[in-house]
Amino acid sequence: MTPHMVLALWLAPACAPEGDSGPAGADTGHRPATWSADVHPILTTSCQGCHQGAMPMALTGDPASDYDVVVPYTNVADPERSTLYEAATGLAHASVLAEGSEAAQAFVSWMAAGARED
Ligand code: HEC
Repeated sequence: MTPHMVLALWLAPACAPEGDSGPAGADTGHRPATWSADVHPILTTSCQGCHQGAMPMALTGDPASDYDVVVPYTNVADPERSTLYEAATGLAHASVLAEGSEAAQAFVSWMAAGARED
């Protein structure tokens, strides 16, 4: 990971699909990733299969309790150095999410915006 890539990821907000039903001219463009719309669904789909029961970061699928379990692995000052990001993209364990993928970027975007339970 070069400093430029880090910067690019930092500056790139998640481009989550907003659907086609918004009113014309509405701002349906870039927004920071949110816990409920972006990050928690990724964790449920890509991580919970292993991360349950006696595992570290044991997830249940409940957004509120999963938030408390995940927050200790975040790093809002340096999202790419978070255990959450490093684990997901293969620096701390087997790569689950490709670096630079939309899902990995959602983690970064969410942490850069404060890792809020939003
Ligand atoms: C194939 C099984 C598997 C999947 C899928 C998986 N993990 Fe893990 N994860 C592990 C195992 C096993 C450990 C504990 C041993 C280790 O750190 O290698 C772990 C540890 C972790 C830790 C704790 C690391 C530490 O240093 O305490 C975090 C955070 C983590 N995983 C995040 C994730 C995230 C985020 C995802 C989904 C994007 C994910 N994992 C998907 C198996 C998995």
